[in-house]
Amino acid sequence: MDLYLKEKTAVVTGASQGIGRAIVRELAIEGVKVLAVARNGDLLNSLKAEVVAAGGVEPVTLIQDFVAPDGPQKIAAAALAALGHVDILVNNAGRSRPVEVVGPEEPWKESMTLDFERHRQLTQALLPHFMERKQGVILNLTSTYELRTLNVSAVAKAAVVAWSKQLAGQLGRYGIRVNCLQPGLIDTENIRPYFPGDERRKFAEREIPLGDFGEPQDMANMAAFLVSPRARYVTGTVATVDGGMRYHPF
Ligand SMILES: NC(=O)c1ccc[n+]([C@@H]2O[C@H](COP(=O)([O-])OP(=O)(O)OC[C@H]3O[C@@H](n4cnc5c(N)ncnc54)[C@H](OP(=O)(O)O)[C@@H]3O)[C@@H](O)[C@H]2O)c1
Repeated sequence: MDLYLKEKTAVVTGASQGIGRAIVRELAIEGVKVLAVARNGDLLNSLKAEVVAAGGVEPVTLIQDFVAPDGPQKIAAAALAALGHVDILVNNAGRSRPVEVVGPEEPWKESMTLDFERHRQLTQALLPHFMERKQGVILNLTSTYELRTLNVSAVAKAAVVAWSKQLAGQLGRYGIRVNCLQPGLIDTENIRPYFPGDERRKFAEREIPLGDFGEPQDMANMAAFLVSPRARYVTGTVATVDGGMRYHPF
C-alpha cells in the first residue's frame, strides 16, 4: 500500500535508538526527509548510514539535549532551516522512571520535563507553522497508565494523552491531526534492564496474549500509517500496539 509519504518532511525526537530510531528508518524508506534528534551522535551517524544502505532518504541529524530549557526552540529552528517546512512531528523522546511512593522531587521534575513539558513546548514552537500552512500531523508516543507501581513517565504520558485529545479538538479546523501511539512492552534499552535473563520469556508467556514483547519495527509500522495521508480521518485517538497486554507490570 502506498502511504503517500514521498517528499514529506518530519521531525523525530529520541531518534538514536529504540522506537524513535525504527520510526526514522521507516519514514525515510517511505521517502520522508527526517530531522532525527537525540544526544548520542555516534548512534545518529550509524542511523544515517543504515538508512542510506536501506535505500531511504538520508536523514538530517541534530545532536540536542531535549531537556535543555531552550531544546524545543533549537529543534524547531533547526527543523525549519534544514527541511524548509515540517509536515510531521513525532514526539518520542522519553524514558521509564520508576519511583518510590514517598521520595524526592527531582525524578518527578526531570521525568515530567522530558516526557511531557518538552513535547508540549516543541509542539507549540511548530504549531504557528502548521496553522499557517493549514496542515500538519503530530504523533505522540505514550504508554499505558494501567500500572501497579509508581512510574513518573507513565503519569507524564497520561498528561500527553489528555493534551493530545484537547489539541486534536481545536486543531482539526486547521487540517492538523494529533494522535497518540501507545506501546506495550517493546524490546528496547529502555525496557531490557527490567527483564534480565529468562524473565522476558516467562513474563510474556504469562501476560501477553501474543506471547512475546514487540519489536521497535512493530511501532514504526503503525507510526508510518498514522502520520500518512492514509490516516486522514484519524485524529484525537490512541493507537495501542501491545500484543494484547493492556497493562504494565511496573
Ligand atoms: N519500549 C517500551 O516498551 C515502551 C513502553 C512504554 C512507553 N515507551 C515510550 O516510547 C518512547 C521511546 O522509548 P524506547 O523504548 O524506544 O526508549 P529508548 O530505547 O531508551 O530510547 C529513548 C530515546 O530518547 C532519547 N532521549 C532520552 N533522553 C533524552 C534527552 N534528554 N535528550 C534527547 N533525547 C533523549 C534517547 O536518545 P539519546 O540518549 O541519544 O539522547 C533515545 O533515542 C519513550 O517516550 C518511552 O517512554 C516505550
